[in-house]
Amino acid sequence: MSETLLKGVRCYGDGEPVDVLAANGVIAEIAASITPPDGAEVIDAAGQVLLPGFVDLHTHLREPGREDTETVATGSAAAALGGYTAVFAMANTDPVADTAVVVEHVRRAGEAAGLVDVHPVGAVTVGLAGEKLAELGTMAESAARVRMFSDDGHCVHDPLIMRRALEYSRALGAVIAQHAEEPRLTVGAQAHEGTQAARLGLSGWPASAEESIVARDCILAAHAAARLHICHVSTAGTVDVLRWAKGWGGGKDTARGGAGFAVSAEVTPHHLLLTDDRLAGYDPVNKVNPPLRTGADAKALAEALAEGVLDCVATDHAPHAEQDKDCEWQAARPGMLGLQTALSIVAETMVRPGLLTWRDVARVMSERPAEIARLPDQGRPIAEGEPATLTLVDPEARWTVRGAELASIAANTPYEGMELPARVTATLLRGRITARDGRIR
Ligand code: DOR
Ligand code: ZN
Repeated sequence: MSETLLKGVRCYGDGEPVDVLAANGVIAEIAASITPPDGAEVIDAAGQVLLPGFVDLHTHLREPGREDTETVATGSAAAALGGYTAVFAMANTDPVADTAVVVEHVRRAGEAAGLVDVHPVGAVTVGLAGEKLAELGTMAESAARVRMFSDDGHCVHDPLIMRRALEYSRALGAVIAQHAEEPRLTVGAQAHEGTQAARLGLSGWPASAEESIVARDCILAAHAAARLHICHVSTAGTVDVLRWAKGWGGGKDTARGGAGFAVSAEVTPHHLLLTDDRLAGYDPVNKVNPPLRTGADAKALAEALAEGVLDCVATDHAPHAEQDKDCEWQAARPGMLGLQTALSIVAETMVRPGLLTWRDVARVMSERPAEIARLPDQGRPIAEGEPATLTLVDPEARWTVRGAELASIAANTPYEGMELPARVTATLLRGRITARDGRIR
């Protein structure tokens, strides 16, 4: 296997520059200066930051069913270019990923593309309809070895179904990822319920629709002694609920006998940066579920991510066709691209203001998501003998986002024309360069 020598990197952005040699899929050597072995590819990375490869717990790859907007292969390319080495492909495909056949297809397509580890997420309920549990055990035991289940796009709103799903997932060593949205509170909802929605005449998606489900599910998860993951947290109130739940559960002896209450949560880059001020022009590129909230919510999310109340960043990368976005607001589908811009948005919202160091970025984009998904070979320390699954970042770079130039088939980025800081310059998956200088290998 080829060898790669990264010269002059700062691991986690700390300390003195070092050379890092990747050989046979692992980090073979880290030293002040390494002479390139014959035939090795040398990357002059002076001043660049080396991080463990990023793990995205929330990606929509649209295969099967909407290959006109994204395929496992094109989404894998976007992921590698964005610094990702593993992604979780959500189940709201067509057909829905609620059987072994579909999850195995996604897994195989990921292996064929070979750019990132593609882990299919299985649906919690048949057809995402919320009425009947899908065969979680069959998907877990299939060749796809599903360990995360979610009806994302829809909330598992029936408390009895949620309870059963949590109980099964515990037995399977899996985690349930909840899209927290009480559907009775969001009928017809088009925007965050508040002054902006009122001004624009859009019906409101109240924060309480998210917060009430998160509170309920923390309690159900504690009861089932199961692991719960909350998708795309978007409100300051949800942060308060999670702070309460984590403090309450936090491994302490409780009346429940320290029953192993465990909840984790993600935040998207767009909820960190964008707010409902953007809705003024009615451009559906800004339509997303959960909706863009207020500046106070975005601030609370950033602080909670810094504090660890929110565990990680996940993209909710959601490609959509032009005809599904370039239409009137009410008819447009919710969702925005995220894989290739995530690192830059985290740099802008978290690193620049001093809320996170690069070492913390490794935690929220790689280590914590790998732990939540229980991936043994991702989010590993940068150390000799560890997998050479790495992301190289130029922290001084600036670049301008052009949707048409992104690797996704769809182009629905809300950052079109924006100049953003920091750029992924190379991604390595078990020693193999998957992306370098904006190109797929
Ligand atoms: O904005 C969103 N888009 N939120 C979701 O929950 C689903 C996703 C999609 O599939 O497009
Ligand atoms: Zn969702």
